[in-house]
Amino acid sequence: MYLHRFLLATVLGTHLVAETRTLSGNLPPAATRPIDFKTEIYPIFKTACFRCHGAEKQKGKYRIDTREGAFKTTENHGPSFQPGDSKKSAALLMMAGLIDEMLMPPPGGKPGESDPLTPQQIGLVRAWVDQGALWPEGPIIETVQLLTFVHDVQPLLTTTCGQCHSGKSAVGGFRIDSLAELLAGGDTYGKAVNPSAPEKSPLLAIVSGKDEDIPKPEKHRLPEKQVQLLQTWIRQGAH
Ligand code: HEC
Ligand code: HEC
Repeated sequence: MYLHRFLLATVLGTHLVAETRTLSGNLPPAATRPIDFKTEIYPIFKTACFRCHGAEKQKGKYRIDTREGAFKTTENHGPSFQPGDSKKSAALLMMAGLIDEMLMPPPGGKPGESDPLTPQQIGLVRAWVDQGALWPEGPIIETVQLLTFVHDVQPLLTTTCGQCHSGKSAVGGFRIDSLAELLAGGDTYGKAVNPSAPEKSPLLAIVSGKDEDIPKPEKHRLPEKQVQLLQTWIRQGAH
């Protein structure tokens, strides 16, 4: 079946389309909760894509900052987003590097500028597409920025938690010195963050006072606003 389609497609000169279909099985799993476009998906597009596909530049004649632009049919790979069918959504397949030579954002550029999206972020976009790719009419009023570990989370945790959870002697084996260490969590609780079920993340339970077993609860309790910031960050994929 595979070979047949491949050969046929090659003969017809649509080799790349066939490749899209056969590779799409490797998409990271979709997040399993309702996704909110404005706060969870639009910020990802803004950070990762607008630079080349926004109001100023439209590389490949594609723009993803407007509804009309975002859903355009691509030059060679079918619809950018096929509501309800993430495996037929070319833009998503490109984000996952599943279309030859079309990884988006393209590799290269200045360090940190063209990082590939994480499997969690792709899983969010995938879930959004499978849930119908809802994009409200009219301009998007931006209320929420894409939060990142380096800009938003680390400064907060360094101040409030660093005293006990930094370096070699970090208590409970839990360190906030890098994103990887934070995600890995500590000796007792294991992974601190659960992007597929943010509300079940031990980190949130601990800082919101919901975990009754944590020693020194007064050192672990954060104000509601900061808890919300951490929760939003986790919902956005903990990047
Ligand atoms: C650094 C610039 C840059 C960034 C950032 C970038 N792209 Fe692209 N994109 C390009 C270029 C250049 C092309 C045209 C490539 C080609 O046709 O070979 C392209 C083509 C595309 C196309 C195909 C358009 C068509 O009609 O064929 C899609 C879809 C796309 N990009 C989606 C995205 C998405 C989604 C993101 C963010 C996750 C993104 N791109 C980020 C540069 C970029
Ligand atoms: C005054 C010291 C202190 C501060 C400040 C502190 N903690 Fe802790 N934390 C502890 C102690 C003690 C434990 C229990 C360690 C153990 O089980 O051995 C702990 C455990 C933890 C664990 C569980 C680790 C495991 O064993 O899996 C997490 C997660 C955690 N803290 C997060 C935080 C966060 C987030 C902050 C900042 C909001 C913070 N802590 C601030 C002392 C502190």
